[in-house]
Amino acid sequence: MLILGIETSCDETSLALIKTNKDKIKTIKHITYSQIKIHQPFGGVVPELAARAHLEKIIPLTQKIIKRKDLKKINLIAVTKGPGLMPSLLVGVELAKTLSYLEKIPILGINHLEGHIFSIKNIQKIKYPALSLIVSGGHTLLVLIQKPFRYTQIGSTLDDAAGECFDKAAQFLNLGYPGGPIISKIATKWRNAHKNKKPSIYLPRPMLSKNDFNFSFSGLKTALIYKLRKEKFPLEEVCAEIEQAIVDVLVQKTMKAVRSYNVKSLLLVGGVAANEFLRESLKKQAKKSKVNFFVPRKKLATDNAVMIALAGYARWQTLSQEQKQKAKKYSLKIQPDPSLSLK
Ligand code: KG4
Ligand code: ZN
Repeated sequence: MLILGIETSCDETSLALIKTNKDKIKTIKHITYSQIKIHQPFGGVVPELAARAHLEKIIPLTQKIIKRKDLKKINLIAVTKGPGLMPSLLVGVELAKTLSYLEKIPILGINHLEGHIFSIKNIQKIKYPALSLIVSGGHTLLVLIQKPFRYTQIGSTLDDAAGECFDKAAQFLNLGYPGGPIISKIATKWRNAHKNKKPSIYLPRPMLSKNDFNFSFSGLKTALIYKLRKEKFPLEEVCAEIEQAIVDVLVQKTMKAVRSYNVKSLLLVGGVAANEFLRESLKKQAKKSKVNFFVPRKKLATDNAVMIALAGYARWQTLSQEQKQKAKKYSLKIQPDPSLSLK
């Protein structure tokens, strides 16, 4: 099958073409245009600007991915349906519908969070029950996967997402956007130069004492602001402590869930899964607990259309002939859902 993936849920305009033959999957083309520069002055994504940028880029990127005469070779379009920003989602969904209309190609609307799960390459090797920590700019979720496509959310953030915490801290420190990679780069440099030393600033590890699997990161940002108002600390140590505090909370809560639900596999996905310190820390703990650990390649951790195409292929394979016909018939009726949940 030739599958076109479309992802426009937030601030990345991404298209991908994958070719599948049973278990063999090859990425033929993948282009992701990141709007980082547009949102940088604001320290976060501005929905109106994001949608405009998607609109500007979506046609030129589509032309780069596929020629008009080759459009009929596409067997399936997988497009992010939600969750995300409504004006951004609309751009991707309307592109999918237009292409579908031209050559009668079926569309599957994909949950962005499920897309992140399918960013993992060896997903067929996962043993169930599995647990996925989904950490991005908009989400921090612990999801139990009893079997393929069966999700139960067991914990989530009560306020800011982990990525959002990185982004807001970076904005406060005037470091730029997105904050995660910037803070991480500074933190890594300091840690490597000061092995076994603790930063001079201490930040709280919110929610660790609570007996559930929820997170809360807004207090961490507030604590940072209050501490820096009172006293000066070296920037490198501040960044190291922010990263350490976020990673400590994510790792400890996740491992608590691993033990409670006796899972066989642990998946780390979402934009923050690109964080090397988090990847290494969780991998170490998973190994200690004898749990298989899965994480996507860094390039596929942040938003991209390859993961959407992969999730589309996985979903398509589960459909009966009748359901496939139905999917074709209802393709032009697909509507974005900004608050779509993973169920
Ligand atoms: O999944 P994603 O690309 O978009 C959403 O669905 O939100 O995640 C973006 C988030 C941003 O908050 C960004 O700061 C964070 O992922 N991020 C990182 C790293 N790379 C991206 N956070 C920590 N360390 C990184 N290396
Ligand atoms: Zn995402």
